[in-house]
Amino acid sequence: MTLRAVAIGIGHYLPDRVVPNSEFEATLDTSDEWIRSRSGIERRHFAADGETTSNLASKAATAALQDAGLSAADIDAIIVATSTADLTFPSAATMVQAELGMRHGFAFDVQAVCAGFVYALSTANAMIVSGQARRVLVIGAETFSRIMDWTDRATCVLFGDGAGALVLEAQDGTGTSEDRGVLATDLHSDGQFKDLLYVDGGVSTQTTGHLRMQGNQVFRHAVEKLAATAEAALDKAGLSAEEVDWIVPHQANIRIIQGTARKMGLDMEKVVVTVQDHGNTSAASIPLALSVGKQRGQIKTGDVVVTEAIGGGLAWGAVVLRW
Ligand code: UT7
Repeated sequence: MTLRAVAIGIGHYLPDRVVPNSEFEATLDTSDEWIRSRSGIERRHFAADGETTSNLASKAATAALQDAGLSAADIDAIIVATSTADLTFPSAATMVQAELGMRHGFAFDVQAVCAGFVYALSTANAMIVSGQARRVLVIGAETFSRIMDWTDRATCVLFGDGAGALVLEAQDGTGTSEDRGVLATDLHSDGQFKDLLYVDGGVSTQTTGHLRMQGNQVFRHAVEKLAATAEAALDKAGLSAEEVDWIVPHQANIRIIQGTARKMGLDMEKVVVTVQDHGNTSAASIPLALSVGKQRGQIKTGDVVVTEAIGGGLAWGAVVLRW
């Protein structure tokens, strides 16, 4: 018998304020046409003043618990993937724990920027299959609007705020790729690429800083590395690309999403796309897309789902699971 970490609930939360591309035309030398054609983004959500990452995460967690038919009492651990925690410490995850009224178990953050959810999912899976936790809430939550340089048209039009949450539960499997649950993970980072995507501030510099990105350089790495990590994870799972039901990619740019699918020989019909509505929400983008994909009726029980992401670090990876 093999223990598997099976998805039993999914939910998300988006802040009320929706910002269409046209809003940037008033303050920047940009256009709705440029943003749409270069990125696929049409609108994004921004958190209200005082609304924090842990607030968004808690709302997504509540939705995921409801979807699973569980309460916080049933959860052993909370992992929040974020680069925009409310405070330097404690973790956003312990704040979510408090907001859910949970006094038991343990909670911590994972920081791998846009690849954060894939890293958190991999961590949660390792804890479940090793018997350290039975049910884990895995959350991706971000308020990237707080680290935008509003004068930099090359970055501030691309990002958004939001949160998605997944409940994973230990269930017995047979050890084959027919099992439900996480089937394989593949993680990578290469710190030599730090300057391609980073925030020019932090605790040690006593500033918050702003996001800086050499977009076209990141773009070049993205398609190649995302297809390779997705294929490596599929290989570890003993599955071929033809057996994939859904690719749920990090939602940074529709051209990256299309390029990765093309490289893997997969039709766009098999890709969950939400970038037009959410923009790039970093670690929140995959759980948001999983939740929206389930709501749309795209992702169904038994489907083979591949999640893949890349971001600052560079850090990238993929997780294959059977829903
Ligand atoms: O989530 C983490 C990972 N991040 C990513 O995956 C992002 C990867 N990169 C991208 O998505 C794309 O590179 C961008 C959407 C950021 C940019 O698209 P691009 O086709 O790579 O454009 P570019 O950066 O090469 O810029 C082309 C032109 C430049 O003008 P010149 O130098 O050709 O005169 C930019 O200054 O577009 C200009 N530009 C803009 N024009 C209007 C840059 N931003 C804007 C803008 N509006 N907002």
